[in-house]
Amino acid sequence: MSSNKPKALVTGASSGIGAATALELARRGMVVAVHYFNNEDGGRQTVQAIRDAGGEALAIKADVRQQAEVERLVAGVLSEFGTLDVLINNAGSLVGRVPFFAMTDEYWNEVFQLNVSSVFYCTQAAGRQMAKQKSGVVVNVSSVAGRHGGGPGAICYAAAKGAVLTLTKGLAKELAPYGIRVNGVNPGVILTPFHERFTNEEQMKRMVDTIAMKRAGTAEETATVIAFLVSSDAKYLTGETIEVNGGQLMD
Ligand SMILES: NC(=O)c1ccc[n+]([C@@H]2O[C@H](COP(=O)([O-])OP(=O)(O)OC[C@H]3O[C@@H](n4cnc5c(N)ncnc54)[C@H](OP(=O)(O)O)[C@@H]3O)[C@@H](O)[C@H]2O)c1
Repeated sequence: MSSNKPKALVTGASSGIGAATALELARRGMVVAVHYFNNEDGGRQTVQAIRDAGGEALAIKADVRQQAEVERLVAGVLSEFGTLDVLINNAGSLVGRVPFFAMTDEYWNEVFQLNVSSVFYCTQAAGRQMAKQKSGVVVNVSSVAGRHGGGPGAICYAAAKGAVLTLTKGLAKELAPYGIRVNGVNPGVILTPFHERFTNEEQMKRMVDTIAMKRAGTAEETATVIAFLVSSDAKYLTGETIEVNGGQLMD
């Protein structure tokens, strides 16, 4: 791997926003660790797309709900790259649409492990290395749901993403003395496999009606905002979360 290029780890880069972000960071000259979990083909495709565009990447598997797996993930990336400059905490999911009175403890814990604990685990493991280097950038992918309470059956996911928004601010303060910036993006309705799995046509139509621009966004339109937060153009930004929602929710 080229030693002089910045090194990035993108979690959940086997599809959707993570895959587009991995590609965008590679286009901007970074060597990228493409993390995946179940979708090995997707991970390989992202790596191939980066290589086809002349970039450098490797695929690496881990369940980000498990701290030991995340430690192994970051150690694996470091053994290949030697350094780590950028972490994109993107892996996450709604898991399922479950109304409040049907919610179980098991479902609650799964949603929080996947969307919140993963950010804690990944940032701690990668942050230790960045602190040693005295520089680093972290971008957390939260959700508009974290601000408005979520759509149908998404209350638990919304609460988890709300926790990510708060984590972004707390981590920004705690890690600034180590030269690490921590920011986030709040995607609104973005066309990815997420909605293919969890949103039917009628629900999609209703959501799009609430968007000022009257269309859903794309993974690429989210990835370029993440790449901006990573770039030196954002070097005085920390603790900030940018809304990427086409005017669905403003304030
Ligand atoms: N699409 C939207 O409208 C929208 C809106 C707001 C926020 N978001 C957030 O944006 C992020 C990316 O979502 P997306 O829309 O791009 O959805 P996606 O295409 O379904 O991607 C989700 C990614 O998360 C990974 N993942 C899921 N469970 C995992 C686990 N236990 N361990 C490790 N990785 C796991 C998946 O990996 P494998 O498939 O390889 O298992 C996949 O790469 C998520 O945090 C999501 O909550 C999306």
